[in-house]
Amino acid sequence: MDISFRLNGERVSLTGVDPTRSVLDFLREDRGLTGTKEGCNEGDCGACSVVVGDAAGIRPQNACLMMLGHLDGKALVTVEGLAAPDGTPHPVQQALVDHHGSQCGFCTPGFATALATGHLHSTKDIKALLSGNLCRCTGYAPVLRAADAAATQAPPPHLKAALEAPKADASKEAGPACPGSVDALATLYADHPEATLIAGATEVALDVNKALKDLPFPIFLGHVQGFDEVEITEGRITFGAGTSIEALRQVMFDHHPGFAEMLTRFGSAQVRAAGTIGGNVANGSPIAETPPPLIALGADLHLRHRNTRRSLPLEDYYVAYGRQDRMEGEFIEAVSIPRQPDNLRSYKIARRFDQDISTLLGAFNIHVEVGKVQSARIAFGGMAGVVKRAEAVEQALIGQPWTYETITAALEVFATDFTPISDLRAGVDYRREVARNLLLRYWHEDQGTPAAIEEVTP
Ligand code: FAD
Ligand code: FES
Ligand code: FES
Repeated sequence: MDISFRLNGERVSLTGVDPTRSVLDFLREDRGLTGTKEGCNEGDCGACSVVVGDAAGIRPQNACLMMLGHLDGKALVTVEGLAAPDGTPHPVQQALVDHHGSQCGFCTPGFATALATGHLHSTKDIKALLSGNLCRCTGYAPVLRAADAAATQAPPPHLKAALEAPKADASKEAGPACPGSVDALATLYADHPEATLIAGATEVALDVNKALKDLPFPIFLGHVQGFDEVEITEGRITFGAGTSIEALRQVMFDHHPGFAEMLTRFGSAQVRAAGTIGGNVANGSPIAETPPPLIALGADLHLRHRNTRRSLPLEDYYVAYGRQDRMEGEFIEAVSIPRQPDNLRSYKIARRFDQDISTLLGAFNIHVEVGKVQSARIAFGGMAGVVKRAEAVEQALIGQPWTYETITAALEVFATDFTPISDLRAGVDYRREVARNLLLRYWHEDQGTPAAIEEVTP
């Protein structure tokens, strides 16, 4: 594959590259840019964070989860590119020095690049920005103080310029690995159903980095025109399958803020910038975190095989563990939800607040009018082999008065809906108990009682 991109301001063109090679390996081994560190090589530590710019904006990403195929047409800045050409450190670098934000320094390039991205966007929620950056020595307070101090200074002009994506080469055809339109993707994938679709690669990259798999026919989705578009009409919100989790989070703040808040705990800023809604729903992981709220909102999945399109309720896509209703060569084109008043709450239960996949996740969309439950859609991840609706619980609520008695009666029905799984994260009894408690929590919050751990006072 031939690619061209901008690296620390300089245009780079490469021919015949292995498109699935990690950007981290390329930076360190081919370019000697060893400031970008390899810690975990699986998206968990942030030591490999770099800054990426393209038409979709400027964002931090993990170089270990990016492949060379992703780089085409983008601008990339590593820690070596943060300082001005005359050597003046970037304000966040100087602030990290001034506030003792570094000891052994292994994590520091990742913090500096993530902070420099936040600095460009005047990001206020620094804790959320840094949830994917781990430090074993310093503790985070000096880093947060450094972020505050740097915020008083303007972003250096060279950085924005270096993050402008290079102009597309008009003579260059989108290669077979990078279809430029949905039609081209549909034809290519139908002709080559053995191909691996690669969106953000926050799952696929682990197959390469950790499982050491070859992906002989990768198809990168990042150049498919319109694949990341969000369309909001009077009746529906439609997310192109390439919509990033971060873009989904931003849209949800306006429509279903509880969903957006839950997504603030999805991976890290780096993972949310790269990961997509299509990649999250495609493989039917029972602990994927967008399907429960999407199902509770009544989402439809829109699939395409060559020129044939079909739609189905998202819950029907998940047939059984490891089995989805998707034929060979068929892909997800979009996910849509009906517009509706916001009654949604999504509760993620995980062992850590940040950067941990859920043990279980409950999403509740209960509509009450004049004291009676008119409708209820409840879906759980982590309670079965697939993300699944709690249909018996829903039926126990619909038509009933919205009272504590109704809730306690409905709690008994959880056993009909779920025989929870037991795994390293939690046992059966824990999952059953917590799932029931989440319905109680929804009811208490609806009554105005704070239940989120940050809001509860002794
Ligand atoms: P990719 O890795 O590109 O693809 C994933 C799969 O979907 C592949 O099999 C691919 O072929 C297929 N695919 C992609 N797009 C399509 C399409 N349009 N049609 C058909 N198939 C398609 N997940 C969570 O739910 N919650 C978390 O908190 C979370 N934290 C994470 C933290 C880390 C450090 C990492 C590495 C991953 C985490 N994940 C989490 C998993 C992952 O980030 C998400 O599932 C993400 O949404 C995947 O999207 P992607 O675009 O990166 O998918
Ligand atoms: Fe740890 Fe990339 S090396 S996130
Ligand atoms: Fe040592 Fe952060 S300074 S890991």
